[in-house]
Amino acid sequence: MARCFVTRQLPGPALERLREAHQVDVWPERLPPSYDELRRRTADAEGLLSLLTDRVDARLIEACPRLRAISNYAVGFDNIDLPAAAARGIPVGNTPDVLTDATADLAFALLLAAARRLAPAAAAVRDGDWLTWEPGRHLGYDVHGATLGIIGAGRIGRAVARRAVGFAMTVLSSSRDGGTPLGELLERSDFVSIHCPLTPATHHLIDAAALARMRDTAILVNTARGPIVDQAALLEALRAGTIAGAALDVTEPEPLAPNDPLLRAPNLLVVPHIGSATHAARERMTELAVDNLLAGLAGLPMPHEVRAG
Ligand code: DGY
Repeated sequence: MARCFVTRQLPGPALERLREAHQVDVWPERLPPSYDELRRRTADAEGLLSLLTDRVDARLIEACPRLRAISNYAVGFDNIDLPAAAARGIPVGNTPDVLTDATADLAFALLLAAARRLAPAAAAVRDGDWLTWEPGRHLGYDVHGATLGIIGAGRIGRAVARRAVGFAMTVLSSSRDGGTPLGELLERSDFVSIHCPLTPATHHLIDAAALARMRDTAILVNTARGPIVDQAALLEALRAGTIAGAALDVTEPEPLAPNDPLLRAPNLLVVPHIGSATHAARERMTELAVDNLLAGLAGLPMPHEVRAG
């Protein structure tokens, strides 16, 4: 029996399978453990089931001499120092596939909500500002027939592209392996949706220069990772009206402080990192995360192991 630390309560029954095989300590709070608490709780653990809110860096890995397997409850793994784990021979798992469609649905929901100005329209109803049917109010942008630029042609980007077909959209996609060059995609798209991983190469990929290439009628959607967008530049672009709007599921930092100036920007919709937040997706993520950890602790290949590089 190995000692495992699980950094949050997880949806679904799968943690029971981990408890049947190992000694499991689950962090009981709503907020994540602090970095020091994470180190303390993982210090003598052999298995770690972490969340994207946990920074599993080289210092932490070094401070956990017995650690043999790390399973991240997310498809993204930018919170984990993969080279440090690899140097110790510790396999790292993630949870791809099971959240692809849920995340693509959310990206499309954000795109539609921003295009058709759902949040301000709903707020107007609540605020008693629905006075009559007005020809010139709450005007948004057509989604059907528009051009959608997808940055990142992985599973989620491709799933978003499939949804766009139903809206008769023209789809452009750009990835590190090719496709439409990013500058051209930004210039031609009515909607730009980000689906690449956060890496040193994609940090602030959407900066002031990139935003300046977008149309003043275009809308930016980000369901990938906050730091891919330079938020100061986004705030500036929204204030100046050089793009028409943005819808973000992810920000830098997370959570955004309620007084963050970005939240006062016009034509901006922000939701709290809920891309995979369906009952089914989150329960399947628990299944996969447990499968990965059980395999890693048994010295078997993880069903979904990620590697540096
Ligand atoms: C992930 O899995 O990386 C998402 O951001 C959360 O589900």
